[in-house]
Amino acid sequence: MTAMSRFVDIAEILDGGHDGERVAIRGWMYNKRSSGGIQFLMVRDGTGVMQCTLNRSSFDEETYNNVEKLPLESVVELEGVVKVDERAPNGRELSVNNVGGVIESQPDYPIIRKRHGVEFLLDNRHLYVRDPKLQSIFRLRAKFMEAARDWFREHGYTETQSPMFITAACEGGSTLFEVKYFDREGVYLSQSWQLYAEAMICSLGKIYTIAPSFRAEPSRTRRHLSEFWHLEVEEPWTDLDGIMKVGDELVTHIGHTLAREMPRELRMVGRDPEELLRLETPFPRITYDEAVEILQKDGVEMLWGDDFGWQQEGPLTRHFDLPFWVVGFPTGIKPFYHKPDPRRPEVTLSADLMAPEGYGEIIGGGQRIHDYDQLLERIHEDNLDPKDYSWYLDLRRWGTVPHSGFGLGIERVLMWMCKLDHIRDTIPFPRDLRRVFP
Ligand code: 4AD
Ligand code: MG
Repeated sequence: MTAMSRFVDIAEILDGGHDGERVAIRGWMYNKRSSGGIQFLMVRDGTGVMQCTLNRSSFDEETYNNVEKLPLESVVELEGVVKVDERAPNGRELSVNNVGGVIESQPDYPIIRKRHGVEFLLDNRHLYVRDPKLQSIFRLRAKFMEAARDWFREHGYTETQSPMFITAACEGGSTLFEVKYFDREGVYLSQSWQLYAEAMICSLGKIYTIAPSFRAEPSRTRRHLSEFWHLEVEEPWTDLDGIMKVGDELVTHIGHTLAREMPRELRMVGRDPEELLRLETPFPRITYDEAVEILQKDGVEMLWGDDFGWQQEGPLTRHFDLPFWVVGFPTGIKPFYHKPDPRRPEVTLSADLMAPEGYGEIIGGGQRIHDYDQLLERIHEDNLDPKDYSWYLDLRRWGTVPHSGFGLGIERVLMWMCKLDHIRDTIPFPRDLRRVFP
């Protein structure tokens, strides 16, 4: 063993930055095979995965045999020359002729490269997070957050936070998680920052947050988590139309950024980047009434006044290749804070953005009631206790302005943009009805 050259990131190599050069990499041995005097090691370093080949003729017998015996997930330092090779999984391979430090792992790594059941992989999530497909998704997730923050910064929004311990429901009592909070009863985990955001717009103007939200979702579905990451926006002097334009631009910017900056990761997880580059503002808008008609024509069970469930959103969104808004949901199926349409009070100035291809709701939002009496009336109608919302009502007494906002489910958008059939892999450690371990 001779001294190693400087270590480089695998991503740099795969991007073509070191073709023909002598470099060293270090990482985890994710997979391996050998045939006729050549070993093929798949090495993962956190930035990418690359094939490394070792020729028996380039090594002394002992080194070659020791490497051959290494169990999966052993950590290796390898030095060699970068070769462009069509046959290698990512078009490039490292032709190795020097092996540096090795940390041998135990021989019984539980995730072998055959198909495992979903529950087994979730039990071993602390190890399965190393899977190259998950690695690509988590990388896309990080880029997603970065792109969103860039968009908000460029458009003059301030990031702010709301408490996670709260005392009154924003999205209805049925999905509240109650928590033990010293000796106080009636303390819950936040479902949405919204009510606090409505206070903060009088301090900061246009604001956003990226934070966890919690929902005690009673059912296991492919698109619900009990803890999800919520990107929320709230702004004064903005109506329903204005806040939908924010959604159009933000989602388009995020989709384009992923497609331009991470095409390799997108392809790896199964999404053609070209499809995200086709996102274009403004997204089409249909009314709730039109959505009901489309569904009824398709023979899907749906009456005017019903809320959408998976059975409705699935078929509805398969009519579209790009996201679209459904506008004007009935007052009866939206929380108390939604402003009734002055021209037609049985519907609200609300809008949900639907992802196409069967994915369904990714954004929910709209214009808020800014009039004190109207808000109090809706609180009574929904059988809520005005005492629980006393501070929220106060906001309508001093300096109230028309305002709007929305919440975007980050995992929902990622699930669609990565073309996944389940939400669980969009987050490293998913939480649902049955799982809080590991
Ligand atoms: O439609 P929701 O319930 O709206 C609100 O919470 C508003 N207060 C937001 C606002 O106006 N500031 O939730 C917003 C979005 C949904 O469209 C969905 O994308 C996501 O949050 N979401 C979930 N994602 C994963 N798992 C769950 N259980 C989710 N519940 C909502
Ligand atoms: Mg909703």
